[in-house]
Amino acid sequence: MVNKKQHLHMCLLCLIALAILSYFVHQRPSLATETKGKVVGYNAVQTGKPPLYIVVVCCGQRVQETLVMIKSAILFNYDEEYLKFVIFTEDGKGDEFREKLTDWREIKPFTFDFEILPLKFPSGNEVEWRNLFKPCAAQRLFLPSLLTHVDSLLYVDTDILFLSPISDIWRFFKKFNETQMSALTPEHENENIGWYNRFARHPFYGRLGVNSGVMLMNLTRMREMKWEQHIVSIHKEYKLRIIWGDQDIINILFYYHPDKLYIMPCEYNYRPDHCMYMSICNMTHAGVKVIHGNRGYFHSDRQPLFKSIYEAMENYQLGSNANTDFLMPLHAALSIPSVNNSSCGKVSNEVLKVANAVISKRYREV
Ligand SMILES: *[C@@H]1O[C@H](CO)[C@@H](O)[C@H](O)[C@H]1NC(C)=O
Ligand SMILES: *[C@@H]1O[C@H](CO)[C@@H](O)[C@H](O)[C@H]1NC(C)=O
Ligand SMILES: *[C@@H]1O[C@H](CO)[C@@H](O)[C@H](O)[C@H]1NC(C)=O
Ligand SMILES: *[C@@H]1O[C@H](CO)[C@@H](O)[C@H](O)[C@H]1NC(C)=O
Ligand SMILES: *[C@@H]1O[C@H](CO)[C@@H](O)[C@H](O)[C@H]1NC(C)=O
Repeated sequence: MVNKKQHLHMCLLCLIALAILSYFVHQRPSLATETKGKVVGYNAVQTGKPPLYIVVVCCGQRVQETLVMIKSAILFNYDEEYLKFVIFTEDGKGDEFREKLTDWREIKPFTFDFEILPLKFPSGNEVEWRNLFKPCAAQRLFLPSLLTHVDSLLYVDTDILFLSPISDIWRFFKKFNETQMSALTPEHENENIGWYNRFARHPFYGRLGVNSGVMLMNLTRMREMKWEQHIVSIHKEYKLRIIWGDQDIINILFYYHPDKLYIMPCEYNYRPDHCMYMSICNMTHAGVKVIHGNRGYFHSDRQPLFKSIYEAMENYQLGSNANTDFLMPLHAALSIPSVNNSSCGKVSNEVLKVANAVISKRYREV
């Protein structure tokens, strides 16, 4: 009898020891304090994947728009990559971000992390950097020396939404040859309506220039080529001739260094220009991966396709069913005749091809 009791005791002790051991093995130190007492599931952190950095710069009335962008990245992260959002923003906006993102981390534990940074410029000649343009517009040009611990990142404007997993665009890094350090999409597909080819008074990349709203950056390589020195000297030489700030600087830089740029297809930065007159982005093989409501199109009725997608994402509650709570309301909005008849609305099925496939596949499996 006594023996049996001791035996049971030993077993119990062993079990407790094992439980404690597995607890420590499975925790990352940075998360340990927050995960105590929670059920730990399979997730990106535990598999030890390196984080995919997504960087955004938010000034003015763009906090909500930025949060909707972040939500779309989390929603479409079906490959369970570990996402790390870095948000550069003005004084006074941090709390709003922190509050929402902390809520979302409760809903989607371990899938992402975030960092909120004040607008920052390289120390040394901060004044010169700050006065280059408006601080917010210039910010992204200085990421290589501000994020020195980061190898690579995806920079996006606040007015973009993901319609595909981040891993999809991230794979372009692997396609770079030895000289390429950044990837962008063309500013335009068509000479007749292109801006740079008709109006620019400075050199620009390629036939029609590049759009800078979605930009893969290998910071390691950008640091190696002394990117920021190039930026400053280009600014000195061209400042009286540039209109679109940082995007023009980037175009001038890659005009002189075309071997350093990888060009992604238009469906990675799909804008109203691609459908407002006629459909000029060939999506036959893929559908839109990243949509960009530039010039305020997410908030206007000029091409309701853009506003409909934005609003469906804004209304979607993270953690709820993406099929019934995001896709279905979106398709309902797109079938309203005034939307369906608009020139961008007409191609909505092509635009949403990936989003439909990714989400419906997900919900077939579940
Ligand atoms: C960026 O470039 C560096 C240096 O060439 C390389 O070691 C690194 O793997 C690249 N990063 C990515 C994500 O491809
Ligand atoms: C990399 O690709 C670019 C664009 O095609 C090209 O200009 C450059 O010469 C290539 N670099 C190497 C090392 O092949
Ligand atoms: C669009 O892309 C597909 C597949 O890459 C190609 O077969 C087709 O010719 C392209 N269409 C146009 C109009 O460029
Ligand atoms: C949208 O309009 C096209 C014709 O313009 C029509 O064939 C299609 O059925 C309409 N779609 C919806 C969902 O109403
Ligand atoms: C949409 O287009 C169809 C024909 O393509 C037309 O019959 C219908 O009246 C239009 N609806 C609206 C709201 O413009």
